[in-house]
Amino acid sequence: MSDFLSTHGKTHSCGALRAGDIGARVVLTGWVDVRRDHGGCVFIDLRDRDGVTQIVFDPQVANEAHKLAGDLRTEFCIGVIGEVISRGDNKNPKMATGDIEVQVDTLEVFSRSATPPFPIEDDIDTNEALRLTYRYLDLRRPTLQRNLRIRSQAAQSMRSYLNENGFFEVETPFMVKYTPGGARNFVVPSRVHPGSFYALAESPQIYKQLLMVAGYERYYQIVRCFRDEDPRLDRQPEFTQIDLEMSFIDELQLQTLMEGMIARLWRDVLGVAIETPFRRMTYARAMADYGVDKPDLRLDLVLSDVTEACAKSGFRVFEGVIAKGGIVKCLRVPRGERLSRAKLDGLTPFAKQFGVMGIAFARVKADGVWQAPFAKAFDDQARAAVNRIAGASEGDVLLFCAEKAKTANTCMGALRLHIGEILDMIRKDEWQFMWLTDPPLFEHSDEEGGLVSAHHPFTSPRVADEPLLEDQPERVLARAYDLVLNGFEMGGGSIRIHRSDLQARVFNVLGISDKEAESKFGFLLKAFQYGPPPHGGIAFGLDRLAMLLAGAHSLRDVIAFPKTQKASDLMSDAPTPVDREQLDELFIQVKPDLPNKS
Ligand code: AMO
Repeated sequence: MSDFLSTHGKTHSCGALRAGDIGARVVLTGWVDVRRDHGGCVFIDLRDRDGVTQIVFDPQVANEAHKLAGDLRTEFCIGVIGEVISRGDNKNPKMATGDIEVQVDTLEVFSRSATPPFPIEDDIDTNEALRLTYRYLDLRRPTLQRNLRIRSQAAQSMRSYLNENGFFEVETPFMVKYTPGGARNFVVPSRVHPGSFYALAESPQIYKQLLMVAGYERYYQIVRCFRDEDPRLDRQPEFTQIDLEMSFIDELQLQTLMEGMIARLWRDVLGVAIETPFRRMTYARAMADYGVDKPDLRLDLVLSDVTEACAKSGFRVFEGVIAKGGIVKCLRVPRGERLSRAKLDGLTPFAKQFGVMGIAFARVKADGVWQAPFAKAFDDQARAAVNRIAGASEGDVLLFCAEKAKTANTCMGALRLHIGEILDMIRKDEWQFMWLTDPPLFEHSDEEGGLVSAHHPFTSPRVADEPLLEDQPERVLARAYDLVLNGFEMGGGSIRIHRSDLQARVFNVLGISDKEAESKFGFLLKAFQYGPPPHGGIAFGLDRLAMLLAGAHSLRDVIAFPKTQKASDLMSDAPTPVDREQLDELFIQVKPDLPNKS
């Protein structure tokens, strides 16, 4: 076999040739996408990562190559040499290369392919498990190739921006000290230190702060993070952050710089101009109006809190919940005739997944009168107050949820999106960025009972709230922020505590003793004795950014080799048990009665 590639260098990609190339002699390489035999000629759609070119084997032109082409099947990997000719009347306007075809005189088969377990096409209905098992074939699909190209462009764009703005790219360890609390860690046993473990870093948080202490001033890293959480559509156990930290800045300066990065990213990847500065919304406003801390602003519906108006409404269900400390949240849906009785009835099963008994609804008629099963029980004045607060007028439907605050917000936040979806009210072509600001510094932990950090324990309280730390910690807000886009949290960060007296007070509220602080974060606290600069930072989820840029529905569509819902890699079959000897070497005993891996 002659060495085709040494003799003939590839001249074009399969997406490159146009009418202007007619007459050129070209060398193409790629995979057989589709093969057709017509009137003695063999036609092949040759595919590579850039596109598809039709190539034709005509026995009148090259008998030998034509004979060889008779053997070609889908996914054979081949190289061809030929002349670019016009397709004449058979142009295909749907293909970028549709004006031309390549008349082949030389064919080289680099490798044959077994019949693939599914066709390499977009929009095919193959089950995802099979695709993930043969991920390298799935990755040949145009959509996935486009998605990974977008991801690569995104990383390049942000890298250049950060380089231009004086950031150093520094790598930090993956194998780090295990500290309980926060995200659940993956642990790595140490052979050299029997019985001891490293944790895989859930983020470079502490290291980037140490880099600030070390005077690096502006750091970034495109870095893998590991969290042993249950995967979801927007969550993977290993994911990638664009992580950065800066000294001598405040939140506004950091956010402004980041807006520049995001605007550049959208311009570079999608050619779209994004308006800056982004809208800013406090956590309190987001929860009040949208029920969530990551509102999707492509939808104009807003929630209102009608608790006070309902407290003496005479409607027992609402009054009962309010008496127990709950709230009543209302969603006003304009042009309520779009919500048929059947659609309204369907809301109860939807709400039940959030632990809510049901959704009450009222149709607003002339003069603000309600048509509702509970209308008679509802005091007129209370009704007028609800109408006023919700901004209701004739033709609207009002939806109500009476529950504990957290449940009511979660349910109504989701219901708002659900209604937006079923009534097609979400403006799908918009990019709605916003900064979520001033979240609480602490939250109640259901598991641990007391207060825990809402972000992480190094997040600064707002300066004005410092005096509240000891007596009213629930009211202390944080110098933290999230970047939200179309209802997804793209990134989160904060201004950090750099004064040890303040850090000690925060640990105190968290119930972390000096000893515990020392054993968990001693090395950071020690470093902070040596002139730490004021600093803050943020980390963006690269997978999430790529998912939205690519218009994909799942992180799996923008990660080359993702894990499944059960955190396994179906292609390599990881995780697997390891040999007894390996375990012995690591001093690990496995319970004999472990369930079989399914
Ligand atoms: P945080 O935990 O908010 O902050 O993470 C930052 C961003 O990372 C993305 N992200 C994920 N993406 C995919 N799968 C996951 N399991 C996952 N978890 C998080 C999100 C999120 O906004 N050290 C801090 C940042 C800082 O304070 O500077 C941190 O890790 O897009």
